Amino acid sequence: MELFDVYSLFDITPIKGQDCYVWDDKGNKYLDLYGGHAVISIGHSHPHYIDRLTSQVNKIGFYSNSVQNPMQVELAHKLGEISGMSDYQLFLCNSGAEANENALKLASFHTGRKKIVAFEKGFHGRTSGAVAITDNKKIISPFNAHHQVEILPWENIELIEQCLSHKDVAAVIIEGIQGIGGIHIPSTEFLKELEILCKKYETLLILDEIQSGYGRTGEFFAFQQTNIQPDLVTMAKGMGNGFPIGGVLISPKIKACKGLLGTTFGGNYLACAAGLAVLEIMKSENLIDNAKKQGKYLLNKLAKITDIESIRGRGLMIGVDTKKKISPIRKDLLLKNYIFTGVSGTYTMRLLPPMSLNEGHIDYFISSLEASVDSG
Ligand SMILES: Cc1ncc(COP(=O)(O)O)c(C=O)c1O
Repeated sequence: MELFDVYSLFDITPIKGQDCYVWDDKGNKYLDLYGGHAVISIGHSHPHYIDRLTSQVNKIGFYSNSVQNPMQVELAHKLGEISGMSDYQLFLCNSGAEANENALKLASFHTGRKKIVAFEKGFHGRTSGAVAITDNKKIISPFNAHHQVEILPWENIELIEQCLSHKDVAAVIIEGIQGIGGIHIPSTEFLKELEILCKKYETLLILDEIQSGYGRTGEFFAFQQTNIQPDLVTMAKGMGNGFPIGGVLISPKIKACKGLLGTTFGGNYLACAAGLAVLEIMKSENLIDNAKKQGKYLLNKLAKITDIESIRGRGLMIGVDTKKKISPIRKDLLLKNYIFTGVSGTYTMRLLPPMSLNEGHIDYFISSLEASVDSG
């Protein structure tokens, strides 16, 4: 049997990871500034993470959501504490798309409405509702296209009000910082106005923090740069450092009832062990502060490279636009300097490294990038 061939692959086979590095099967060592797509938050193969998962699988790996699972309660407690959102409720699932799917469903249940407003260049996942609210026609099948969705321009508050004023919109969904769209940060004023409009028209506000959340930007969630209070917050990626886990934070005003949501695998013991290890390491190693500090250092260094067109980002979620096409520069960095980076479109490099990144890693990247940009 062959694999369903949907991914463009680099001819590299990683077999080992440690902190900010991965090694391939030929013994090459790579600096990981991509984090396997913003997933590696605490660094590869952290000893505490390995201990938590191995000791858990030695005890019990799985039972269903029909019995008591104190690890879910502990995860909710620790998450509430570190995010400052302990008055919210937690629903656990397995991926980012699934988190968004459940958030959309909750918004629709709560308001009794069907329509969702999302934004241009947004990405929210590949399941039915999540892909329908994603601004990329190529990945929306006719089956997905039946949802009632309005995709509006970024930060156009008048158009948003026009749309919400019909009082038929269940939720507005926005990324804390747009990731796949090219690292676009919503302004504080815009987020505040959006919150006010949502309240005025009884529409729920969903913050998709799947890429921008979990400490990466120097706040636990990127939206916490402002003092807005979303009704729903979705998360995944960094939450399990590679173990599949996602979640929805749900405002206290949304009431649960038995059977409203459900999942077989969500919140299983291994996922909780991974999730707990991530939060424990983030706290004990001050990784959120480190993301903020190293992000500033990296942005300062990038600003001094003359061939760079523009830089956007916060903490360790950074977009770099180059004057030349980005693909040969990234290839050069990967094959000559052994550095993994991410991409968005034709001119934007995306940096989403582990939050344990240090100045030595950054200096090596900057000197490599300078050489690549010069020779490209
Ligand atoms: C902002 C955002 N939302 C949702 C998703 C979907 O997450 P997953 O691939 O875990 O379903 C992604 C994935 O890249 C994302 O960046």
